[in-house]
Amino acid sequence: MSARLTLNTGFNAGAIDARIFGGFLEHLGRAVYGGVYDPKSPHSDERGFRRDVLRALARMRMPVVRYPGGNYVSAYDWRDTVGPRAQRPRRPDYAWQSIETNQFGIGEFMTWCEALGTGPFLAVNLGTGDAADAARLVEYCNLPRGTRWSDLRAEHGQANPYAVKLWGLGNELDGPWQAGHVPAAEYARRAFQASFLMKQLDSSIETVAAGSSGRGMPTYLSWDREVLETCWDTIDYISAHRYSSNAAKDSAAYLAEGVEIDRVLEDYAAVIGYVRGLKRSNKRVYLAFDEWNVWYRARHGEHTRGAWREAPPLLEEAYNLEDALVCAQYLTAFLRRADLVKIACLAQIVNVIAPVLTKRDALLLQTIYHPFVMFAEAARGISLTPRIESPEYSAGARGSVPVLDAAASFDGESGVLSVFLVNRESERPLTVDVRLEDRRVMGKVSVQLLGGGALQQQNDWDAPERVVPREGRVEQGDSACRVEVPAPGLAVLQLPTTTR
Ligand code: AHR
Repeated sequence: MSARLTLNTGFNAGAIDARIFGGFLEHLGRAVYGGVYDPKSPHSDERGFRRDVLRALARMRMPVVRYPGGNYVSAYDWRDTVGPRAQRPRRPDYAWQSIETNQFGIGEFMTWCEALGTGPFLAVNLGTGDAADAARLVEYCNLPRGTRWSDLRAEHGQANPYAVKLWGLGNELDGPWQAGHVPAAEYARRAFQASFLMKQLDSSIETVAAGSSGRGMPTYLSWDREVLETCWDTIDYISAHRYSSNAAKDSAAYLAEGVEIDRVLEDYAAVIGYVRGLKRSNKRVYLAFDEWNVWYRARHGEHTRGAWREAPPLLEEAYNLEDALVCAQYLTAFLRRADLVKIACLAQIVNVIAPVLTKRDALLLQTIYHPFVMFAEAARGISLTPRIESPEYSAGARGSVPVLDAAASFDGESGVLSVFLVNRESERPLTVDVRLEDRRVMGKVSVQLLGGGALQQQNDWDAPERVVPREGRVEQGDSACRVEVPAPGLAVLQLPTTTR
């Protein structure tokens, strides 16, 4: 089977925002306690941060990490999480029916972000919390000393402001499972007030309004439209969430998940464009896809209820090869729509629906870790709009779908052109001819391959390297190259190029 990809640096979707490689850390299960923070682990530093986890996450190059939730944020009080640890309350977490000790809070998160080399993306509570309280948190984090809440931060040992740039206005308030769930009009009012007050305090911040929590919601897009109409002048982004599933055990359809992801992006481009038109506005609001991943196995029942334990093992999804290739398709879709998607957060990062799993004394990289690292290492500069000529395959319930899913980037500074190719077909390898219309290949093309073989293969504690990237072979010409993508699999090519 063969396909062709044609690229021209003049046809592009603009600059890639590195924040599409963001992550998400929630107070949920063993994500924080026993995940990023575990004073009892032999791998932890003097602050209790797992060094091995920091090393693994550093390879993912996440420019932002969203925190502290998720559902958790909608009933939490940030004041419980700051100040002397001995005085922080233990309290029940309604979202995941667990006990929260608050030993890791805002201050620890900021220090951890610095240790990782990432930036905080803080969500405020707009479930049980209100706009005034959200503004108090901005005052605590971002104002110089001299006011009640900024002085409290200084009392807590942090004289300089944390200068948090990116703020989320609540979480999934469209969902009946959410503490403080309300109709769109009520959420929009809350989000407008909060964003307005927060920006009055610090005009340099950016805010993200909570969009629909999924395409299956009855209020999908009407919620987003209403929120955009009310909040347009005060927000910078609207969020989208999606969790992919192969619960139907239809792998042919599941491997075409990118088709659905593209649809969601089209939907958001449309609703944002519609409101912009209604308002005759010159302003742009972009998409923050701040929760995305595969999640269906550990999604119900005891996987989601902590029975009032501290750091219970929740949402510990075990990932396989097909899941990794679905994750790759989220990233190709975000890259292709670099004009729309400025932020995206893999949900989540450690132990909870995560690429990284821990035991007290060991760490495992799940299959979904690898495509993320392969993309984050190679995607730079502008996103090229690929012309794809591909055979189709029968994708189960999704009908006939192109076998090849692809994206490409070009870094004008180094001249490196990167190509991301997913073969969605599980039976036959795919030979892809990549043609460059306006660049010449100068030097050795590198190829990383992932996949091939059984769709269900996983990395586990006994065989941690069943699914890992390997070097591939490429035939290269003057302005072209040819590579074989495994069935099913991913290939990431990096071509050093010069002008023609
Ligand atoms: O990521 C797990 C949960 O999924 C988050 O807490 C919530 O926002 C979403 O429903």
